[in-house]
Amino acid sequence: MNDPPAGKANEMDSKEQLDPGSRSVLITGAAGEIGHGLIKGLRVHDDIRIVATDLKDLPEDTRDLCDEVHVGDVCDMGLMQQLIAMHEVTDLYHLAALLSTRAEHVPEVAHEVNVGGTFNLLKLCASHSASWGRPVRFILPSTIAVYGMADLAQKASMGAVSEGDCNTPRTMYGCNKLYCEHLGRYYARHYRSLAEDRGTATIDFRCLRLPGIIAAETKPTGGTSDFVPEMLHAAASGTPYTCFVREDARIPWMTMPECIEAMLQIGRVDENRLQNSVYNVSSFSASAGEVAEMVRSSFPGAEIEFTPDVDRQAIVDSWPADVDTSTARADWGFTPRWGLEEAFAEYIVPSIRTHYAQA
Ligand code: SER
Repeated sequence: MNDPPAGKANEMDSKEQLDPGSRSVLITGAAGEIGHGLIKGLRVHDDIRIVATDLKDLPEDTRDLCDEVHVGDVCDMGLMQQLIAMHEVTDLYHLAALLSTRAEHVPEVAHEVNVGGTFNLLKLCASHSASWGRPVRFILPSTIAVYGMADLAQKASMGAVSEGDCNTPRTMYGCNKLYCEHLGRYYARHYRSLAEDRGTATIDFRCLRLPGIIAAETKPTGGTSDFVPEMLHAAASGTPYTCFVREDARIPWMTMPECIEAMLQIGRVDENRLQNSVYNVSSFSASAGEVAEMVRSSFPGAEIEFTPDVDRQAIVDSWPADVDTSTARADWGFTPRWGLEEAFAEYIVPSIRTHYAQA
């Protein structure tokens, strides 16, 4: 999966060498859950220019934090070319994608958006890196859906999987993301390796394999890890919830603040510290039943029942129970902030209560 680093042919090795005032960040899929947190996290740095794009307009609270917002399709190569060129993009957070559940309903559309959109952006960033003589930094969220456990016995025996283990995804989304990881690594390290005019500046590609994400301020749509955030939001808003997986369904998780922190950290770290282009990140492993217990003790009266959907359950069963994050810890200092109990006490319960009190 991961190659050793390329020969550092890029003319500028790290963003730290760029004039900080010149950073110009393009975010695709900016109206989604991660976009919401990322824009807020990036805005803390006033010297960053934020350009956001999505098929739909952004909510007002994040739109106001962007320098520009463009409503448009990530597959529209003309629009993407215009945005990258016009804003002299230094960093691209490419978040636009159809998640695993949505993608299983329309797999060909998912391929077009998830692979086609990424491929177009990689090509554009490669050509701009070459013509500007500096690498465009390309940050891609990937997923635990790239893993495929053969059965529950393998899932139990594997425990925390490393990046190179079980790369046999079950879903279209997982296949798309795994291929895009490879494409990104190719464009960063081997692009046009036999062409005489290949130039020296290639893209700087960085990718995080995200676990299930739990956010207090936003609700996910279209994912198969949605059962935990849905359970929480239902409890906090006093609505009964029927969970679509078994109580023993276990995958790795992290909270949205930790996810954003990891995205910002991988976006900032000096390229020389990165031995790999793709890193697992996660904070804890928990089953749906363990989370339900935490929800019931935090929101007495929460009504949660389990009625597994065979097909969505099969997707979750194919995902690992946990991921090994040791390479992220060693290379760029990834440090999860919370375990399950701390996440509930310090972030989930207080933030979700505030969210619904204000709603
Ligand atoms: N959250 C994603 C999904 O459920 C998995 O990474 O599709």
